[in-house]
Amino acid sequence: MSDIETLPETAPKRVFIKTYGCQMNVYDSDRMADALAPHGYLPTHEIAEADLVLLNTCHIREKASEKVFSELGRLKELQGEKRAAGGDMMIGVAGCVAQAEGEEIARRAPVVDLVFGPQAYHRLPDMLEKAQGQRHMHPALKKAVIDTDFPEEDKFEHLPAARKEVTIKRGLTAFLTVQEGCDKFCSFCVVPYTRGAEVSRPVAQVLAEARGLVEAGVKEITLLGQNVNAYHGLDAAGRSVGLGELAFLLAEIEGLERLRYTTSHPRDMDDALLAAHRDLPLLMPYLHLPVQSGSDRILKAMNRRHTAAEYLSLIERIKAARPDMALSGDFIVGFPGETDADFEDTLTIIRETGYASAYSFKYSTRPGTPGANLTDQIAEEVKTERLYRLQELVNKQTADFHASCVGRTLPVLIERVGRMPGQVGGRSPYLQAVHLDGSTDLIGAIHEVEIVGTSTNSLVGRLKQAAAA
Ligand code: 5AD
Ligand code: SF4
Repeated sequence: MSDIETLPETAPKRVFIKTYGCQMNVYDSDRMADALAPHGYLPTHEIAEADLVLLNTCHIREKASEKVFSELGRLKELQGEKRAAGGDMMIGVAGCVAQAEGEEIARRAPVVDLVFGPQAYHRLPDMLEKAQGQRHMHPALKKAVIDTDFPEEDKFEHLPAARKEVTIKRGLTAFLTVQEGCDKFCSFCVVPYTRGAEVSRPVAQVLAEARGLVEAGVKEITLLGQNVNAYHGLDAAGRSVGLGELAFLLAEIEGLERLRYTTSHPRDMDDALLAAHRDLPLLMPYLHLPVQSGSDRILKAMNRRHTAAEYLSLIERIKAARPDMALSGDFIVGFPGETDADFEDTLTIIRETGYASAYSFKYSTRPGTPGANLTDQIAEEVKTERLYRLQELVNKQTADFHASCVGRTLPVLIERVGRMPGQVGGRSPYLQAVHLDGSTDLIGAIHEVEIVGTSTNSLVGRLKQAAAA
């Protein structure tokens, strides 16, 4: 979360934001903090001292809404304790569960004061004011303030105004949302329903935000979008600019040293983006490119719009553009109708691609998605067994990838003190965590680090003295 350096004169109240799910929610939570700061709310990590608690929810995992309701149960108790002690606490639910189930949340959990979807965070101060008005009403008449519209207006338009009034200290790395929503409609996925149709921010807006981040000390930006490589923002001339061209424009910002983006769909990896990987050293050689399954039959049922062979030939083209590209992916096991042979195809595509990391999930139905209507569900034990086998393979690939880095010298953006005293830590170009002995003076720059070993999920490095100027 952002650290606020200067605040308005009024006595600060405290907001605790709990973020679930993807990096876009992390970005949105920071923007909520930004929007609230001029209204006197200071972020806190201590829920007990919060005047306002916001749950920024995720709908992609199973039983997501049940988890939110049980969290709300706990918050209700906390609120009761605070009230008994003469204090109070407002409660808001944001994000994709709020978007999908706004009215239901308000009905089932009257403790909630406000419910708002991902398109509404810039209206948060107004909503809060309305909700505050409601608090003085008789409990029977009190209604949560609900805002789950997908309005025409652009929520991103409101960012610069919110930021002018406070000086926000950033870390060395930052997320920047460039695109939101998705038009792909994979049959298992709720995103097209919770985040809506795909919308790209105009180029000038993205560049302005990126420049602002770099001025605030950010060295590495990760561009975010549910389907980020479908980005097609308009430039000043009204021309549509893709992610590849955007990367070239961002590369011109002096002081920006590293650029990443996530998450991508194979169908949207176009030539311009491959050219960016070939020609831009700041575009990091790590790509999260989910394939979900290696079976053409299942890919079709998932409405992924590509075959296994198309994915593999794309990987070849990516590696031709950037030979050291480290790949990451998402996999679903046990999609309805998945046979043993289909699952073997998934293991095969994993072997053929070779992943540096991967995320894998058991299929579970999401109400409202086409997948929810499919019969032929796979037994839980079968899913568990398949997930285990898949993860075993991927973990081995990750370990092999880490081991292959031993002996190499990698540029590491040193970001923080390390786990052990006298250590610092950062990230390699391939997004691996790297720990090394060194002084905190190293923090804030990219240093050449010789990789001397691996530990479970990270690399162990040694500073190359020559580069440590
Ligand atoms: N069941 C299991 N996994 C899912 N994902 C999305 N929807 C589902 C679902 N219904 C996974 C996909 C996606 C990742 C973010 O979550 O692999 O890429
Ligand atoms: Fe969901 Fe990604 Fe498919 Fe879009 S491309 S529907 S976000 S899995």
